Amino acid sequence: MPLLAERMSRAKPSAIMIVADKAKKLKAAGRDIISFSIGVPNFLPGAHVYAAAKEALDHDSGQYGSNRGSDALLDAIAHHFAESGLPGYERKNIVVGIGAKHALYNLAEALLDPGDEIVFPTPYWTSYYDIAEIVGAKITALPCPPAQNYKLMPDQLDRALASKPKVFLFGSPSNPTGMVYTREEIAALADVLVKHPDTWIICDDIYNRLVFDGVGYHNVLQFRPELRERTIVVDSISKTYGMPGWRVGFIAAPEKIAQALVTLNSNHITNLPEVVTAAAVAALTGPQDLTTQKRDEFAHKRDEVLATLNAIPGVRCPRPQGAFYAFPDISVAFGKKHGTTAINNDVDLCNALLDTKGVACVPGSAFGEPHALRISYTCKAAELTEGLKRIKGFFAELT
Ligand SMILES: Cc1ncc(COP(=O)(O)O)c(C=O)c1O
Repeated sequence: MPLLAERMSRAKPSAIMIVADKAKKLKAAGRDIISFSIGVPNFLPGAHVYAAAKEALDHDSGQYGSNRGSDALLDAIAHHFAESGLPGYERKNIVVGIGAKHALYNLAEALLDPGDEIVFPTPYWTSYYDIAEIVGAKITALPCPPAQNYKLMPDQLDRALASKPKVFLFGSPSNPTGMVYTREEIAALADVLVKHPDTWIICDDIYNRLVFDGVGYHNVLQFRPELRERTIVVDSISKTYGMPGWRVGFIAAPEKIAQALVTLNSNHITNLPEVVTAAAVAALTGPQDLTTQKRDEFAHKRDEVLATLNAIPGVRCPRPQGAFYAFPDISVAFGKKHGTTAINNDVDLCNALLDTKGVACVPGSAFGEPHALRISYTCKAAELTEGLKRIKGFFAELT
């Protein structure tokens, strides 16, 4: 029997998708399930996006397109970056992917040989770890526990970069914690990064339009423009415009990196479909009020989640200020029982919560932090309130 490639022994299916699928199956079987699992924005894009897609469908010749992305889309992306506070990118700096996940996968292929070191903070988005494993990179995950609000400290970064890792990857706002680095915090990290010229920097900032409390979105490039020659900014229309299934992600990068990704695209995907491209251009250049409205809605939901979680004795949740996730430390439950079920870790807790209360959350260990679980809180308001009530009830029943 011939064997699979060795790298497949390191490849794992996404832990988030496993929980989401389990919740979906239980729901299909008639169970009353509330899913706080998958990170979907749960809103549809504006009518102008559908109109642009329909128009493209009427005119689409169905031919192959640009490996980099159509000129109209590249210009829309450059405009989007400028509006986000990162002006000056040209078509030669930009490349699209089938979602930010694909762009990140391409970056791993372009930058990391087997054994090369990649550094990122923990908790991390699951795919950072899984993608790095597939390409055979050496992973250094820097612990950022709740006591430091899940944020990376400048001296911690400084120490980690002393070994000259090939890549440093981080994002603000963060998935899974919803943490947002303040202006001062980003400036301090930028000061450290300039001291380590041998490391590529990837900023995965796909939630940058979903920042609450007036904190604002900040990027290291705004404080240290000289970092631009080795920094890649990753963004996507998935969360900002309610378009996760349209699969459009993109990067802004030094020309050499962008060109490398164009080459990979030419061998992987060839191009984004014309209809998808038209919808993405409409989303990026059209009215932005839906995103603003959703951001404010998510901030209110965050308040409700935080108030409920922090009222549970022993549960502690650092205050998220962006995206749509909360990441409470639930380790107070470990060593206790729910009914006859022993809760010894985050996976036990998430399984028992789903089985007994029908609430699906993702165990923190999927993100490298086994003391926590992730709640994605974009569901309807009534569902959110009910799901939180069930979580509260679950903790009250622990013995
Ligand atoms: C931090 C982060 N980066 C990238 C992605 C991938 O997004 P996309 O849908 O554009 O592939 C996600 C999706 O959950 C994410 O949370």
